[in-house]
Amino acid sequence: MADPELDAITVDGRALPPAEAKRYMLLNKPRGYVTTLSDPQGRPVVADLVERAVRLYPVGRLDWDVEGALLLTNDGPLTHRLLHPRYALPRVYEAQVEGKVAQSDLDRWRRGVTLDDGPAKPLNVELERAGPRESRVRLTFVEGRKHEVKRFCEALGHRVRALRRISFGPVALGALRPGQSRPLTAREVGALRAAVAAQPGQRRT
Ligand code: URA
Repeated sequence: MADPELDAITVDGRALPPAEAKRYMLLNKPRGYVTTLSDPQGRPVVADLVERAVRLYPVGRLDWDVEGALLLTNDGPLTHRLLHPRYALPRVYEAQVEGKVAQSDLDRWRRGVTLDDGPAKPLNVELERAGPRESRVRLTFVEGRKHEVKRFCEALGHRVRALRRISFGPVALGALRPGQSRPLTAREVGALRAAVAAQPGQRRT
């Protein structure tokens, strides 16, 4: 065991280059940006929105037309854990959906649906606004399956018109506007680490 920040590690007498400092950013990804570092089709990418001096990788994905909380970091092991289904990190979304969702429909939403890649059941569902033609629903999911929220709402008969992720695990978007980013606070990084700390009896990956 060695600590790259405290120990001098040499190989055949030569010092290893210092470990790159870990960086953690929160971006409010705007609609119309692809969650990648470069796009062969030349579309705008999230890397355009954060300083490029250090290469930071997105933690998971948001669809091109989805806005909201996206973490970026060069901490590969933490990224791996944050996305691992074992830790079931809650992701909270606000979905603007077609049609009227009544309070009495929510039981059906809470029971979940079966999608073509298996059952989908949110951890929590709240109705924020119900208009005659459009409603706003707040949904918490603990996994990051492809287009999961859109597919879930559509299976219930309510196509998603706009989707926004307002938090990822313990990190909330707050007042950050689309296109803006900020470094995570030490407290947020600590909370992320705590959320994916191995439980007693769990094997570390
Ligand atoms: N669910 C979706 O449908 N799209 C996303 O980008 C994230 C969750």
